[in-house]
Amino acid sequence: MQFPDYRPRRLRSSDMFRRMIRETVLTADDLILPLFAVGGKNVKNPVASMPGQFHLSIDNIVLAARQARDLGIPAVMLFGIPEKKDPLGTRAYAKDGIVQKAVRSIKEKVDGLSVITDVCLCQYTDHGHCGMVDKGKIDNDATLDLLARTAVSHADAGADMVAPSDMMDGRVGMIREVLDEEGHNQVPIMSYAVKYCSAFYGPFRDAAHSAPKFGDRRTYQMDPANAMEAIREAALDVSEGADIIMVKPALPYLDIICRIREEFDLPVAAYNVSGEYAMIKAAGKMGWIDGEKVMMETLTAIKRAGADMILTYFAIDAATALQRT
Ligand code: PBG
Repeated sequence: MQFPDYRPRRLRSSDMFRRMIRETVLTADDLILPLFAVGGKNVKNPVASMPGQFHLSIDNIVLAARQARDLGIPAVMLFGIPEKKDPLGTRAYAKDGIVQKAVRSIKEKVDGLSVITDVCLCQYTDHGHCGMVDKGKIDNDATLDLLARTAVSHADAGADMVAPSDMMDGRVGMIREVLDEEGHNQVPIMSYAVKYCSAFYGPFRDAAHSAPKFGDRRTYQMDPANAMEAIREAALDVSEGADIIMVKPALPYLDIICRIREEFDLPVAAYNVSGEYAMIKAAGKMGWIDGEKVMMETLTAIKRAGADMILTYFAIDAATALQRT
């Protein structure tokens, strides 16, 4: 087709035509809202580097979950900020841990909302790494058992899905095996399969108090320069029993989302991470961009790239904007 026979502008000439030929339509069903649970009562402490996001005590997290549900958001992702940290991250798998308590409350008080839990140790270890530390190194295999215990404790509390974000090798298989043994064969695993070692996690680490005390996460999270390795990582998690595979971050890795979508037939999630959120919020506040339009364009782009679902701190804002249209 060539000009002047083909004129692409013909089908852009009205809102009706544009709606008719639109290839990607974002809906509230695509969104998952991350929430940060802390102890105490009636706590709603703003996270400085993530405007609009808060540390919420369980009473308030129930309210946030209900708000998400009422906007048609199908799921929340829970992160916990424990009162105590130790070398083994014991509060990650404690029956009365913060996430376990938050899951129980949401499941009891909010119908029609799925609760996904982030399974990792970095918020719970005093050294801030996602795995056990032995002589200054991250001990992969010693970590697996603790991750599996964490996942089971979440499922015992009523979590609908677990999402390991630690990037230890073999953790999906281990978690699947132990969940099954403990009677949770219906609990799916959303694997942070392709997780890059990204500076875009900065605001989250302030929020979750989970920055590593020494070194960095380069020995377990992926090098941002690698794409083929993403296929190998995802294939491994699929073979170990992942039900959903995630790419994280999202916006700087749209090419990876696209490749993973083409390569695998499982649902693909993308995590629009804290730094992506903070940049848009900050530039929007300065008046340098139209924050709401850039938010919607970003989320649509992530879906267009191939994500079936998007974990995003924008979930409430975006679902609210979608209700207006
Ligand atoms: C925990 C975890 C992190 C994020 C999700 N789970 C931080 C990290 O790996 O350092 C980042 C989320 C975000 O930046 O929004 N391992």
